[in-house]
Amino acid sequence: MNRDPENSFKWGVSTAAYQIEGAHDIDGKGPSIWDTFANKKRKIHRNQNGNIACDHYNRYQEDIDLIRDLNIPNYRFSISWSRIFPEGVGPINMKGIHYYHRLIDYCLKNGIEPWITLYHWDLPDALEKKGGWTNRDILIWFEEFVSFCIKTFGDKVKHWMVLNEPLVFTGAGYFLGVHAPGKKGLSNFLAASHHAALCQAHGGRIIKSIKSDLKVGTTFSYSPIEPFNPENSKDLKATKKANALVNRLFIEPLLGLGYPVNDFKILTRIEKFVKANDEKDLKFEMDFIGLQNYTRELVKYSPFVPILNLKVVKASKRKVEKTLMNWEVHPPSIYQSLMELGKYSGVSEIIITENGAAFSDSFSNGKIKDEKRVIYLKEYIEQVLKAKNDGVNVGGYFVWTLLDNFEWAEGYHPTFGLVNVDFESQKRTIKDSGYWYSEFIRNHARKE
Ligand code: BGC
Repeated sequence: MNRDPENSFKWGVSTAAYQIEGAHDIDGKGPSIWDTFANKKRKIHRNQNGNIACDHYNRYQEDIDLIRDLNIPNYRFSISWSRIFPEGVGPINMKGIHYYHRLIDYCLKNGIEPWITLYHWDLPDALEKKGGWTNRDILIWFEEFVSFCIKTFGDKVKHWMVLNEPLVFTGAGYFLGVHAPGKKGLSNFLAASHHAALCQAHGGRIIKSIKSDLKVGTTFSYSPIEPFNPENSKDLKATKKANALVNRLFIEPLLGLGYPVNDFKILTRIEKFVKANDEKDLKFEMDFIGLQNYTRELVKYSPFVPILNLKVVKASKRKVEKTLMNWEVHPPSIYQSLMELGKYSGVSEIIITENGAAFSDSFSNGKIKDEKRVIYLKEYIEQVLKAKNDGVNVGGYFVWTLLDNFEWAEGYHPTFGLVNVDFESQKRTIKDSGYWYSEFIRNHARKE
């Protein structure tokens, strides 16, 4: 397979270290917050964890062979910080570095372009012991990690993403306590959010200062928010608040627009963590924005939910088609996300760095006929191409995800993969959706 020409539309597939690598304590890796959190009782569905996951650390060649055989030209994965710096900062672990060199080299040898996410939620546990994202020193720790990765791998890897979905790791990890490290409360959340917002810009600056020719982006979760009852003024106000929190909290400071405090007053409390010069330091011009969309959210006013005073009306309560995550299947949501994000003048290029669906799959005659996933991908991709036609500068699309894997608090239950994994034997089986995506890319490339 020949490498993708630089100006072509980037078709790809995404994964994240903790969800697939396993080898959690092998070859000198230090524990991350996910190792610690997932090994506590009653945090994860059926008390599962990522100790072994897809054993990708040992089987990466087989997995890259699958990507090559499926004709997918771009592969997005993340680096486990504590595999390189077991204590977060300080001494480095050569075996971890060699692993990522082997992985990158094997991608390149097979004509696959590696795209690296620097932080996909697995903070070294040693740093969490010092307060993790709530401690402003994270800026110094993160700088050490980012600089090292760019100096070490920057000659081989052209595309870098600083953070994966900051709202999700600060919201679920430091506000709701349902993800690692399991902290709760507004103060933890706002401190973590401000430091993450600074790190996303800071990370971009560090990368460019070391190698100005690298392509730098960062990724955001994005779900169009609609009022449950458009006639109800309280629902309308709740929608604005939810939109400020869910979609605008991290992108607007990055674009120099500040935090969206006008639409959600409680966010003004973030000022407690803001220091002189921060406003300017929150800003950075990314080469691309990674947009990750799965669904839309319907929001309702609710006086019973503390702090937020609003709630999301789940898909299961709405008689709509839904995935195993209880997320509504709604292809126009990706079009709308692209249109909304594309309107910001500071956003130059958008790449869909994640989109996909969890459905239960079953074997029939040795094959997995996951028709629902095929339809989902087909219809969402149609909407992406429609937005492109309508003038949004969208330059690529990555499916979430290559392999069925450890889906955070949901454990191994929701399966998103293009490839099924039998976790007993670690046998991989390509699903119909994998073959479909492969054929789709081949046909699309012919037309380009
Ligand atoms: C995350 C992935 C996750 C996926 C499905 C995104 O929020 O980046 O790690 O598995 O969505 O929930």
